[in-house]
Amino acid sequence: MQIYVENLFKDENIISIAESLDLKTTTKRNKECNLIYNERGLSFFVDPLNKNHSINIDFMSGKLGWRITRPQNESLLKKTLGRSKEKLKIFDATPGFLSDTMIFLSMGHKVVAVEQSKIIFHLVNDAIRRASPSLTYLKNLSFCHGESFNYFDNAKDNFDVIYLDPMYPDSRKKVKKTGSVEALKFILDYERKSNQNDELVLKFLANRNKKIILKRPLKSNKKYNNINYQVKGKTTRFDIYL
Ligand SMILES: C[S@@+](CC[C@H](N)C(=O)[O-])C[C@H]1O[C@@H](n2cnc3c(N)ncnc32)[C@H](O)[C@@H]1O
Repeated sequence: MQIYVENLFKDENIISIAESLDLKTTTKRNKECNLIYNERGLSFFVDPLNKNHSINIDFMSGKLGWRITRPQNESLLKKTLGRSKEKLKIFDATPGFLSDTMIFLSMGHKVVAVEQSKIIFHLVNDAIRRASPSLTYLKNLSFCHGESFNYFDNAKDNFDVIYLDPMYPDSRKKVKKTGSVEALKFILDYERKSNQNDELVLKFLANRNKKIILKRPLKSNKKYNNINYQVKGKTTRFDIYL
């Protein structure tokens, strides 16, 4: 894999990303250039010579951009997090492209998020860099690359909530327009990272002394025992373990 850098955009940022990913940069686009850096920041293409199945994370546009400007409308997530006078400290153990965390931040909460994939980490971190001047609440986010349970196990912070959104088994969450699920799967396969998250969920459930929120497809079976309650939306369900 290589990073295609459009000539004008070769800067310190892409040099440090390339170093961290241990990838070469090139100014000639070729079939190995799954990563592209230009005026839109860093993007990922499953097929480098084709626009399909690509991902460029932009918190300020699309459905997410709309939702983060209207956090008062997030009744499902508010119900899921529960009533609290204080703002919460949330640990996101499966951040992916960070959509859920962005909503939590827009609601005023603090989030620590740890992503296992280095490529996803850099795609998201670059989106954070671009959005930071506009979204001041990004200062309430700590985002890093690593294995989330290890991080959590060694962390000294006191979290109110652990949030888990493992990959849905049948990928019903498919977002055909952007191909983001295809891109996510491709990246995890390329990096040989697991997208079967049973083990991760079980580790958190076994160490349960915090509220755990597990996002699931609405009609999926109750995979793990001892759910305390559920909050249901139109397509998604949140299983809560206290
Ligand atoms: C379905 S995605 C989460 C989507 C996310 N909630 C969002 O709003 O964009 C699951 C993510 O969890 C990450 N993940 C899975 N196991 C992990 C682990 N043990 N540590 C850190 N990240 C993990 C995967 O790499 C993937 O990016």
